Amino acid sequence: MANTLFTGKVYHHFEVLASTNAYAQALLSKNKPAEGTVVRADSQSAGQGQFGSRWESAPGKNLLLSIIYYPSWLPLDRQFYLSMAVGLGVYDAAKLTIHSPAPVNIKWPNDVYVNSRKVAGILIQASLSGPVYNNATIGIGLNVNQLEFDKVLPNASSLAREIGVEFNLEEVENTLFECIEARYLQLKAGQHTAIKMQYEAVLYRKGRSGRYKLTANGEIFEGTILGTTEAGHLLMETFSGVTSFDLKEIQFLPG
Ligand code: BTN
Repeated sequence: MANTLFTGKVYHHFEVLASTNAYAQALLSKNKPAEGTVVRADSQSAGQGQFGSRWESAPGKNLLLSIIYYPSWLPLDRQFYLSMAVGLGVYDAAKLTIHSPAPVNIKWPNDVYVNSRKVAGILIQASLSGPVYNNATIGIGLNVNQLEFDKVLPNASSLAREIGVEFNLEEVENTLFECIEARYLQLKAGQHTAIKMQYEAVLYRKGRSGRYKLTANGEIFEGTILGTTEAGHLLMETFSGVTSFDLKEIQFLPG
């Protein structure tokens, strides 16, 4: 059992679901599930990724789950802080689990990387009522024990593939609940500066030169990540000075 106050206390576990996020949204449309309610599936037939993409995962090998939170206290201009806090929670859990000097980073906005490969993705779906949050469904796909990935995803990996050890899924899940809840409570306590500083301290490629592609025209350029703006844009030093990029505006290229 995870050592949490509310995360995972109500727990729905299925062998197969279309998508844990979709199931959590369906629960929210019927009544008000307890804060911290978790929906987990061993496999998904229509796992949702960012920007309408699909999230693929080998059955029974990884963690596929959604957590329902009610961050009604979070001002909407701080939305990116929820994304950073959840990213840090998954980062903390990966780090505690692998117990290894292998580099763990958060790739903007909130993918978790080990050895420069993606081991986790996060999809937050929020419902707003005017200026306040009604609820947020925090969808997490953490690749734990899957060893083979489709060739169309050359950068996808798992904790086991990077570290060479198989992990106990229930233990990783408990660690994940504890780490996410701790970061959520840190956000609730208003520790915004600490969250941003800690996020930027582990931001993938921060402070070093890398190659990127502009989605609009395919132009490839070199840039150095400086950090993020309050709205969650990526700040980068490029040939034309300091520029900020919105989601989908750029792609990270290898090297
Ligand atoms: C990404 O594209 O990086 C985000 C992936 C999020 C996947 C998880 S798996 C559990 C939850 N249910 C879904 O349908 N998606 C999220």
